[in-house]
Order: sequence, then C-alpha cells, then structure tokens
Amino acid sequence: MRHKYLPSFVKRRGRITKSQEDNLSHLGSYEISSYLQIIQAKKKFSKVVLEVGFGNGENTLALAKQNPDTLYIASEVYLAGIGSLLGEIVDGAIQNIFITSGDIRLLIDDIKEPVFDDVIVICPDPWPKFKHHKRRMLTNEFFELIHPTIQDGGELFMSTDVEDYAESITEQLDMSVGFQRNDSSLYEASSLTKFQRRAMDEGRKIYPFSLKKIS
Ligand SMILES: C[S@@+](CC[C@H](N)C(=O)[O-])C[C@H]1O[C@@H](n2cnc3c(N)ncnc32)[C@H](O)[C@@H]1O
Repeated sequence: MRHKYLPSFVKRRGRITKSQEDNLSHLGSYEISSYLQIIQAKKKFSKVVLEVGFGNGENTLALAKQNPDTLYIASEVYLAGIGSLLGEIVDGAIQNIFITSGDIRLLIDDIKEPVFDDVIVICPDPWPKFKHHKRRMLTNEFFELIHPTIQDGGELFMSTDVEDYAESITEQLDMSVGFQRNDSSLYEASSLTKFQRRAMDEGRKIYPFSLKKIS
C-alpha cells in the first residue's frame, strides 16, 4: 500500500519498558483519532492546543497542569513515549490531555475548519543526511496543511536544535502565505523537553519560530 506521506519519524516501536507497555493498555480511554472526536472533546474547554511529536510528553504535561481549562491534543507515534505520557495522565488523574497515536498529518488532513488555538512542534526529527531532508516535517507542505486548522490569530510555534533545519524552515516560511512572524512566544519558556535538554547540554543552540495565523 502506498502511504500518503513519507514517514517523518524514525521508529514507532523501539525499546519499551514494561511499565510503558502496561500503560499502553489505557490508550483507548485517552485516545482521540478523528476530527469529530476533537469537536466533541473541546466542548468542555476554553482553548485547544495540538502538540505534534511530544516525545516523552514533558512539555505537554507541564502545560496541561498549568492550564486546566485548555485541552491538549498530544500527538506521537513512538510507543515508548506514548506509554510514558499515559502513565503520567493516569497517575496524576489529568483530565485535559488526549493522545493521538498515528501520523498526525493524516488527522490534520481530515480537519476542515479552524479547531486549534495553537499548534506546537518542538525539535522534530532532524533527518541530518541530505538524501533524507525530504522526510523533514516542517516544510511548506506542512504549513499549508496546518494553516486551515488554526484559528485566526492563533500561533504555530516550532523549534529545532539543528542549524541547517532552521535555515530550511526560514526559506520555506519566506515562500509561505497566511502566517506572520511573532518576535517571541510564551512557548519558548515552556518546560524543556528531552531533545532540548540534550541540545543545551551539548552546547547547541535552539532555534524558535513563532508564527501568527493572519488569514
Ligand atoms: C526528535 S523527537 C522530539 C520529541 C520531543 N518533542 C522533544 O523535544 O523531546 C521528534 C518526535 O516526533 C515524532 N514524530 C515524527 N513525525 C511524526 C508524525 N508524522 N506524527 C506524529 N509524531 C511524529 C517522533 O516519533 C519523535 O518522537
């Protein structure tokens, strides 16, 4: 079967601990996999934020605890990360995180109107080899796909710890329409993720991009 999108992730399965595996049994209670389910779930909340590729979920969890009136749709394909976040959700009785576990672009493709107040993508897979750059998620194609799903005035926040990925995002943004660059973002101060911590420990810079949806 041909896939609609080239995989932008390295692995779905991988090393997984017994407790992460056990936590996956709760996925059914916290999973959201369609546009209609998002519409249904958002009724109880004042805002909806999508985080794409949450990794182990540190950032989503911190934001969800700080903002109980906001619904967080947490997207990841990596099962160990999903298991980790599910453990935190269940242990902490967190009510405002739902998980979506497939390639997020397929769900976004299904969304026909603005449902997200903000969208966050922190340190997407860097695909450092030139021949793999076509697998990078943050391209013009992604900006066009996500644009109609964000409310007017909403934010698309992205960051990368890879200099040439940041350069390519800048180039792609120069060609894209419907977004305006913000000078700064509240999400820059969000809690550090595993990949951000690693970059900082190794002395690498993190390049943030904050865009406001304008039309
Ligand atoms: C480099 S990791 C960064 C994780 C986390 N944001 C952090 O900063 O620690 C990128 C994550 O994005 C996920 N990912 C990549 N493509 C994805 C897609 N199409 N849909 C959902 N998640 C995706 C990968 O599985 C991976 O865990």
